[in-house]
Amino acid sequence: MSGPNTNYDPVEVAALEPAAVQAAVDAALAAIAAASSLDELKAARTAHQGEKSPLALANREIGALPPSAKAEAGKRVGQARGRVGQALAARQAELEAERDERILVEERVDVTVPALRRRLGARHPIELVAQRLVDSFVGMGWEVAEGPELEAEWLNFDALNLGPDHPARQMQDTFFLDPVDSGLVLRTHTSPVQIRTMLEKEPPIYIVAPGKVFRTDDLDATHTPVFHQIECLAVDKGLTMAHLRGAIDAFVQIMFGEGTRTRVRASYFPFTEPSMETDFVCFACHGSGSTTPGSAAQCRTCGGSGWIELGGSGMVNRKVLAACGIDPDVYSGFAFGLGIERALMLRHGVQGMHEMVEGDVRFSQQFGMEV
Ligand code: PHE
Repeated sequence: MSGPNTNYDPVEVAALEPAAVQAAVDAALAAIAAASSLDELKAARTAHQGEKSPLALANREIGALPPSAKAEAGKRVGQARGRVGQALAARQAELEAERDERILVEERVDVTVPALRRRLGARHPIELVAQRLVDSFVGMGWEVAEGPELEAEWLNFDALNLGPDHPARQMQDTFFLDPVDSGLVLRTHTSPVQIRTMLEKEPPIYIVAPGKVFRTDDLDATHTPVFHQIECLAVDKGLTMAHLRGAIDAFVQIMFGEGTRTRVRASYFPFTEPSMETDFVCFACHGSGSTTPGSAAQCRTCGGSGWIELGGSGMVNRKVLAACGIDPDVYSGFAFGLGIERALMLRHGVQGMHEMVEGDVRFSQQFGMEV
């Protein structure tokens, strides 16, 4: 540290001479004015106001001056530093305002521009209702079972007690596969999944089998060559028709809402004995058969009967159990199956089968946007 020097001549301290101080101020003001960005201004601040700037260095020299010279030099340098400081602050404010202005323009967001929206698909209503039924049955402890759409003719017919000459075999308009003796068909129903399951598993068996089925129908308002069925099969000790009715009721309530009543009528399927056709109470007229209570006009949904046909069902034929290696004296079983398209068309007033199969997402969207 340098001590006071009594012989010191202030005039010789060049940095403190008025001209030198003025030159430092001029240089600083020029640099500040020339700074066109905040970065440049920062550099100018370091150069002209920082510790090693000419004015800071000059300021340091003041302490070494004799007392008589200190005040004047101090005032000169102080004023000079003050001017530089003010100029810096003013330019800083200017540049910040410019920057804010620029950001407002450059980073402008037009909130009115329509968003680029990627259109979501929707699961088909058939898929939705099948999934809902499957989920509900899985929730009750049933398992999902699936079989191939290209099925062995033997599993689609023979194993279900539909022998080659059985008249019911002709009732189902079958797509056969070339060559004729390939033994393969496009399955006409989901019932071969019953056989596949019984051959593979020991009772107790509780399965729900959804899937595509095929029949040689032309596409028209009520028919389609490819449609969907969902089928349930239970095999256990002591199962009776009461259990079958209970399962059908549970199924129908999931599909059509709580409190939907069912009834069964005698029918015939070679693989169930006894066999039944299941009807459920018409959701439009609630079983009255007329458009409005007491009116003579027939309900259009059920054709005036008050009931809508759901599908086939019955107790698994003993012959079928035995053919699958299950002792019919120990076990009994029930099965039921239905076409999903028809049920959905009725439920939702779908005008024609075309809407069901064309795959237009707007059709699916009406049933909810589950993806
Ligand atoms: N598979 C039969 C059909 O397609 C329906 C059915 C299933 C009947 C289960 C009885 C038991 O018509």
